Amino acid sequence: MAIESGTQTEMDHWQLGREYGEVQRLMAELAEEVERRRSQNRHHLKQADWEWLTAKQHMFKIDKTILRRDARLVAAEAGFNVYNLFAFVLEIPPGGTEGAYHMHGEAIKLYLQGRGQEIIAGHEYEVEAGDVLFVPAHTWHGTQNPYGDTERFVAIAHTGQGAPIFHQPIFRTREDLRVPGFEESPIGQAIARKDYGTMQPFELSRARQYFLEKLGDLETQMEERRGQDRHLLKRSELEWGPLWPELGNDPRRTSALIAKTVCPELGFNVHNFFAAFVQLPPDGAGVPSHAHGEEMQFYTQGRGRAFVGTAVYEVEPGDTVFIPANTWHGVENTSTEPLIYFSTMQGRGNPVAHVPISRVG
Ligand SMILES: [Fe+2]
Ligand SMILES: [Fe+2]
Repeated sequence: MAIESGTQTEMDHWQLGREYGEVQRLMAELAEEVERRRSQNRHHLKQADWEWLTAKQHMFKIDKTILRRDARLVAAEAGFNVYNLFAFVLEIPPGGTEGAYHMHGEAIKLYLQGRGQEIIAGHEYEVEAGDVLFVPAHTWHGTQNPYGDTERFVAIAHTGQGAPIFHQPIFRTREDLRVPGFEESPIGQAIARKDYGTMQPFELSRARQYFLEKLGDLETQMEERRGQDRHLLKRSELEWGPLWPELGNDPRRTSALIAKTVCPELGFNVHNFFAAFVQLPPDGAGVPSHAHGEEMQFYTQGRGRAFVGTAVYEVEPGDTVFIPANTWHGVENTSTEPLIYFSTMQGRGNPVAHVPISRVG
């Protein structure tokens, strides 16, 4: 049956109900196809395999005389078992734009080539290769290229499929629940020793309360920094530090480095993502095996090996690697130059387990 838009107001309630049911059935069929693609469970995409979609094929109402083109990198439709993120690369030739201004969930962009102008919430930014941008959820934005060279960026955006666009706030507990000197009390000391196995039920719930209070304090500080509402991080602002403390003070002290980009502590009003550059020096440095929520890595420099579950991939600039949630993974530099990748992970506090697509009868 044909679905016509713009005619809903003339429908009687029978027709409206039937069409609603029909669209739900069509969406369920579509979801089955997406599930079928997901089952490929891909991790690695070579730049040579990018499938470009040119403006002429594009569904959006954009100027079709300027051939901007884009390619899906990581997406459920492309065979990755991903729920929170999708990634694409977009190329805008001189004089082109990214179409009309639009809004959606949170998005992060890494400029790979050329220069461009980004307009986010009325602010204009001059952007060049190496710069990182953040588009907060539900914020009007657009891109244009008034310069002489083609601009190219990779974008990682929130899918909105199952995962909430906004975070669930952590509720602060009542101030009057705080006990001065709690850390020194017997329960406080038992918590410090992690003596959870011998705690009474009340003590266990008190321990949880204690950590929620701590989390509430930290969340308040994060919220204060989010208030800066930043959109842009210039390449020159990257601050490199050791990676191992960021992996929970991992005792396997790697010499790998990290430079955080889009995260709340740096003043971005972001809830779903955490983005950073990771650099492995040419001394055999690796990112030791670890697991967390969904992650996407875009390789920008050097050569190495990415480990995802039991699979091993040779990686080079232009490659994308996807790591499903709760999957052990690591990276190794196999070359004589630094290996660098841009990593976007699920933000802190986001549920790690995926939310399955609901089936409609
Ligand atoms: Fe966008
Ligand atoms: Fe990771």
